[in-house]
Amino acid sequence: MLFNVKSVSSLIVVASLANAKAVNKRADVTGATLYVYGSDVNGPAVFYADGKRKAYFGNSPVSEVTGTQTNITFGAPDDTTTPWAITANSTTVTFNETLNMYINPTGFDQVGFASAASVPSGDITSGFAWFGKSVAYAANSSDYKLMFSGVPTNTTGVYALYWNGDRTLAPTGSFPVTVKRTAPTFPSLS
Ligand SMILES: *[C@@H]1O[C@H](CO)[C@@H](O)[C@H](O)[C@H]1NC(C)=O
Ligand SMILES: *[C@@H]1O[C@H](CO)[C@@H](O)[C@H](O)[C@H]1NC(C)=O
Ligand SMILES: *[C@@H]1O[C@H](CO)[C@@H](O)[C@H](O)[C@H]1NC(C)=O
Ligand SMILES: *[C@@H]1O[C@H](CO)[C@@H](O)[C@H](O)[C@H]1NC(C)=O
Ligand SMILES: *[C@@H]1O[C@H](CO)[C@@H](O)[C@H](O)[C@H]1NC(C)=O
Repeated sequence: MLFNVKSVSSLIVVASLANAKAVNKRADVTGATLYVYGSDVNGPAVFYADGKRKAYFGNSPVSEVTGTQTNITFGAPDDTTTPWAITANSTTVTFNETLNMYINPTGFDQVGFASAASVPSGDITSGFAWFGKSVAYAANSSDYKLMFSGVPTNTTGVYALYWNGDRTLAPTGSFPVTVKRTAPTFPSLS
């Protein structure tokens, strides 16, 4: 009797693990909108702002940037060697070249987007991976880092998205955030 109960529950565990994996794969293939969570931040989407071609998050466009701003979808392959290209989640904006997300892994710099030929020296476009539903940077298979930060802009409730590769360089007012593919389930308070 006890034996039977045990084998049934292990079967259930195996089945739900298989489901979780299938859900992961589907998200990786179709791309993902990324949402940001932190102490005062309840899931606004990561968006793209032209000019410096950098990443921001918040519920409104950022005022200190000129040019196009648009919500984006990230190609998120299940493979740390392939860059994460972005597409505009918009009927009016199309990028004129393939833009990949990049970070400076060892500094404190804003997350940006660049064509393969114009990634700033020292910055990298590979190594991005899912850690559960969170975006990580994996220097290798045993070193997953989740070190995104928010830095206030001049627009209330809108922040620049940074990678915190060196916390000694983080300015006053910056704060750690998690970048996830999970949409918020309640209205943002900010
Ligand atoms: C992104 O989408 C959100 C929700 O639809 C919207 O409030 C916001 O203004 C959009 N941001 C940009 C830069 O288009
Ligand atoms: C992206 O576009 C889809 C379809 O228009 C919309 O449902 C979704 O809310 C958008 N996401 C963001 C973050 O704007
Ligand atoms: C795309 O537009 C940007 C900004 O205007 C420009 O710097 C870049 O050279 C353009 N790329 C191509 C392939 O035309
Ligand atoms: C993984 O990367 C970290 C940081 O770059 C390094 O310290 C560590 O030795 C690496 N481990 C392996 C197994 O390559
Ligand atoms: C905010 O505005 C001030 C004054 O215009 C400017 O010096 C500062 O760089 C701006 N902050 C950011 C994050 O752009």
